[in-house]
Amino acid sequence: MSTQLPSVGKPIDRVDGRLKVTGKARFAAEFNPPGLVHGVLVQSTIAKGRVAEIDTAAAEKLPGVVAVLTHKNAPKLKEVPPNPRSGSSQSPGTEFQLQDDRVRYFGQNVALVLADTLERAQDAAARVKVRYEKEAHATDPTAALDKAVPPKSDRKDEPAAVARGDFDTAFAAAPVRIDATFTTAQENHNPMEPHATVAVWDGPKVTVYDATQYVSGVQESVAAALDVGRDDVRVVCLFTGGGFGCKGNTWPHVILAAAAARHVGRPVKLALTRQQMFTSVGYRPFTSQRVRLGATKDGTLAAVSLSGVNPVARYGEFTELVGSVARMMYAAPAIAVATRVIPLDVQVPTYMRAPGESTGSLAFEVAVDEMAYAVGLDPLEFRLKNHADTHPTEDKPWSSKSLKECYRIGAEKFGWAKRDPKPGAMRDGRLLVGYGMASSTYPVHLFPAKARVTLAADGTATVESGTQDLGTGSYTIFTQVAAEILGLPVEKVRCRIGDSTLPRAGVSGGSSTAGSVGSAVRAAAEELRDKLVALATADAKSPLKGLKPEAVVVADGRLVAKDDATRGEAYTAILARAGKKPVTGEGELKQDRAKKFDSHAFGAIFAEVGVDPDFGTARVRRMFGAFAAGRILNAKTTRSQYIGGMIFGIGTALLEHTVTDHRTGLIVTREFADYLVPVNADAPAVDAVIVPEEDPHTNGVGTKGVGEIGNVGSAAAVANAVFHATGKRVRDFPITLDKLL
Ligand code: MOS
Repeated sequence: MSTQLPSVGKPIDRVDGRLKVTGKARFAAEFNPPGLVHGVLVQSTIAKGRVAEIDTAAAEKLPGVVAVLTHKNAPKLKEVPPNPRSGSSQSPGTEFQLQDDRVRYFGQNVALVLADTLERAQDAAARVKVRYEKEAHATDPTAALDKAVPPKSDRKDEPAAVARGDFDTAFAAAPVRIDATFTTAQENHNPMEPHATVAVWDGPKVTVYDATQYVSGVQESVAAALDVGRDDVRVVCLFTGGGFGCKGNTWPHVILAAAAARHVGRPVKLALTRQQMFTSVGYRPFTSQRVRLGATKDGTLAAVSLSGVNPVARYGEFTELVGSVARMMYAAPAIAVATRVIPLDVQVPTYMRAPGESTGSLAFEVAVDEMAYAVGLDPLEFRLKNHADTHPTEDKPWSSKSLKECYRIGAEKFGWAKRDPKPGAMRDGRLLVGYGMASSTYPVHLFPAKARVTLAADGTATVESGTQDLGTGSYTIFTQVAAEILGLPVEKVRCRIGDSTLPRAGVSGGSSTAGSVGSAVRAAAEELRDKLVALATADAKSPLKGLKPEAVVVADGRLVAKDDATRGEAYTAILARAGKKPVTGEGELKQDRAKKFDSHAFGAIFAEVGVDPDFGTARVRRMFGAFAAGRILNAKTTRSQYIGGMIFGIGTALLEHTVTDHRTGLIVTREFADYLVPVNADAPAVDAVIVPEEDPHTNGVGTKGVGEIGNVGSAAAVANAVFHATGKRVRDFPITLDKLL
């Protein structure tokens, strides 16, 4: 049978699209079991110290209030081990879930109020009086750059420091040098759907409806914290309204909801407010990055170094691996990257779309632009000249790489050739116009995944896996993969995901889901198909009786002889004779690939900005990305991921910035009026093209992942365009108007 998947990739509409636009898709907060009580969190208003006194009497007296939980009366929880995605770098921890009187950051949970209606719970929460004993705190990373230390949580598979060659010597000897320091702002995740959890106990078992990117991870954390068996916890997440990484962990409110529901003997719903999203579920940390580049006069890179720092919590680490692009993007004999961390009295940061690659590429690809100007080369030409034909720090060949194609196609479609190289030379009326570009890349990650595919007597198939769809299109692509293998129209395939009782799969993070779960779905569908072939070819009543398995192919809900399409029978006929019992195939991701190779997706992003010289306002006018990411399972959902990632980069370059008042530790920008994300007017014409690429080495379906790469290099392309428009090199992001005046 063919190993290709020729019709996978078609830009079919999302199979769950109708459910979503008609409001029938049920998100976590929309489950309302009988007897439900609503939880509202009270969060600390100091950054460090202890809760000296907490007066809940006024709250408890209100009608409808069921309980007010504080560190004095909350159920005791067990330590939560870090979830598998997090390695040792990050644990939600139980220490700040009402287990003691310590306050470790501003906005930490100090009480949970439960009442029969949301309004009553909110009212009661407002009446909880807390007296704090404050201690001196430090929340400002810019005031503590000298306190950076190597991360304790260093991991072999993603090391914080990587070096090859002798950077210091090569840099000192280089005739052209760039030495620049960049800062990127803290960003907070703002998916459309805030986090929400509904926990329902039935005897010793609990069902947790949760807004998550990782049903199995939530299952493990809840089971560990509440000291019950893993199989006593069922986590359901049928739809996730976006995540960008914040929904990859099990945060304290999830565990609190489950613990509170057990404590009061009623189902509990705990939905975070938009403001609480800024203090409860991590964030992309501020980074400071020093980039040093050395080159020959003709523009050949001789030395590359990027060393960065990011703040972490004193109680938990998260390393933003800003060197991950600099260490592999261009060929250079000497490369050294490192990340250190600054422990502060803040909440622990976490993954946000392309963590490390996004922030790191912003500093690095701007520094590369500076170097291109320093050696007098066009920025695109400079990148082509320094193209890495093999992985420069791992000495491995790429499993495939189509970056040059991306540059060529991107430049052509964008019209890069029309660019006047001189900064400040292009105008449109009063506006200064600039073109900028950057390279893009994202590694191929895979996490263990299992799947099951079942064919029913009526000839329809069901795909099942304990993965989830965070809005990217998982339902659709797994339907397509199974339909392809079984030779069924997609209308005859149903996809069931988002439930921890289904075959286990990993976090929907690291752009890993399509490849990991897709491989498992493919293997399961192939096993099912092979079982059907075996049934038919062994059955005297089948027209296929006696044929060798390899002489049978699938076609439109039937098995037919490869060399005679008229000889065959429908799946329904095979199952009817076999007693109408469903036939099931099971499969999992095989992780034996890619050892000999390094696998990355690549891309090129081009941006045009207009800058008002009087007001300093920079706006993106258009943007174009060209990406090669192996086999594409659905061209429409893929393009959506690419342009979504690119628009995210517009936010990083120009808008997004979480501001903390360091006198108190209060985050002051915690609603959409103050925390600006790109809206339609900020992203006028953003488009992306799929550069065809086949890679047999990545995984069972040949994908590389498309969820994050659009966000890598996007902000740098915009920043480089701003420089080209104005001649001003801003190195502190976002580029707000004050920096251009
Ligand atoms: Mo994404 S930041 O890998 O969930």
